[in-house]
Amino acid sequence: MGVGWAGEQHAEAYAKLPGVELAGIAGLEEPVRTELAERLGVERHVATWEELFEDDSLDVVSVAVPTFLHAPITIAALERGLHVLCEKPIARTPDEAADMVAAAAKAGRVLDVAFNRRQRNDVQALRRFIENGRLGQPYCTKAWWLRRSGIPTMGSWFTGRETAGGGPLIDLGIHILDYALFLLGQPKVTTVSASTYDLLGTAGVGDDVSGKSGGGGGFDVEDLASAFMRLDDGGTLLLETSWATHRMSGMEYGITIYGTEGGAELRVDEQLDTGTLTLFTEVDGVPAVTEVEAEPGGGHDEVVAQFLDSVRAGSGGEGVAAAELARVVDACYRSAEARREVALS
Ligand SMILES: NC(=O)c1ccc[n+]([C@@H]2O[C@H](COP(=O)([O-])OP(=O)(O)OC[C@H]3O[C@@H](n4cnc5c(N)ncnc54)[C@H](O)[C@@H]3O)[C@@H](O)[C@H]2O)c1
Repeated sequence: MGVGWAGEQHAEAYAKLPGVELAGIAGLEEPVRTELAERLGVERHVATWEELFEDDSLDVVSVAVPTFLHAPITIAALERGLHVLCEKPIARTPDEAADMVAAAAKAGRVLDVAFNRRQRNDVQALRRFIENGRLGQPYCTKAWWLRRSGIPTMGSWFTGRETAGGGPLIDLGIHILDYALFLLGQPKVTTVSASTYDLLGTAGVGDDVSGKSGGGGGFDVEDLASAFMRLDDGGTLLLETSWATHRMSGMEYGITIYGTEGGAELRVDEQLDTGTLTLFTEVDGVPAVTEVEAEPGGGHDEVVAQFLDSVRAGSGGEGVAAAELARVVDACYRSAEARREVALS
């Protein structure tokens, strides 16, 4: 459900898979909803999620709607016996996320969360390099997702704390956290020291006019965040993310990892979806630089395919891991507010 950018990615991914019938689509916007349904050959399309759930024959549902609706819709779906693939971030707060995880456990259904950036071929290739020891022990990591002018529609649901839970930290930072911790082998974050800023957004600077839906018309979230994290493997992760900041034009995400035997840097152009992965190693004592060619790949197609694999297996999904990321993001917001380091228990 949801017929914005994310909902369209989900619907298209299901439509490509053999043995899957797209039984219904829900979304408030017309003619967007009808056009999507007609293009994918889906007969039933309705405005609200409540109407969608009137169909008793559903087995699974994708939740790709504003974040404040993730918990109520996901819990209602799980209570109806559906398996759920929810968009990131799992929820606005750790409490909402914990309720969703508990509802999935109680219902005995899969709760998965869409971390599509992790599915990129270059990210997967870098994970294999690290697993195979090419960087030795990674100890210092910087990860970022920076936009010069990319507030997802000033005044939409994205720019309200009540509807989104926060700004770029919870929107883009959650992707960065996910792929960084995945690449590093899932160490736990033990402490965070974060700062958030809202000077450009509150001045009306940095809109990307992308046509995001809903919202109360205001801007009461951050436009830039920086967080320093200590990890339980002894390493550190520095995370930086912006919707609006005076830097070079464009939108870019990536990661730099320094290890005892080598380093790596991945840079992805958000709009072109093209990435450059570079490894810094030594060959016979001589510094070597290797550029790795990898098609973008993965994305929501892979997320949806893996979700359905979990459903068929009767277990799996990223719900529990996503709830842990929600705790880390929440600790960052608390650290920024208190202007001090916060420990995660
Ligand atoms: N994984 C990614 O790369 C990625 C990218 C963008 C957005 N997202 C996530 O996807 C979700 C949606 O974001 P978006 O950019 O598509 O937003 P959007 O504003 O473009 O679309 C939101 C959709 O939700 C629908 N909606 C709102 N209330 C509804 C209701 N009561 N019943 C049914 N549908 C309802 C709207 O009609 C709209 O179609 C968010 O959680 C966002 O964080 C993920």
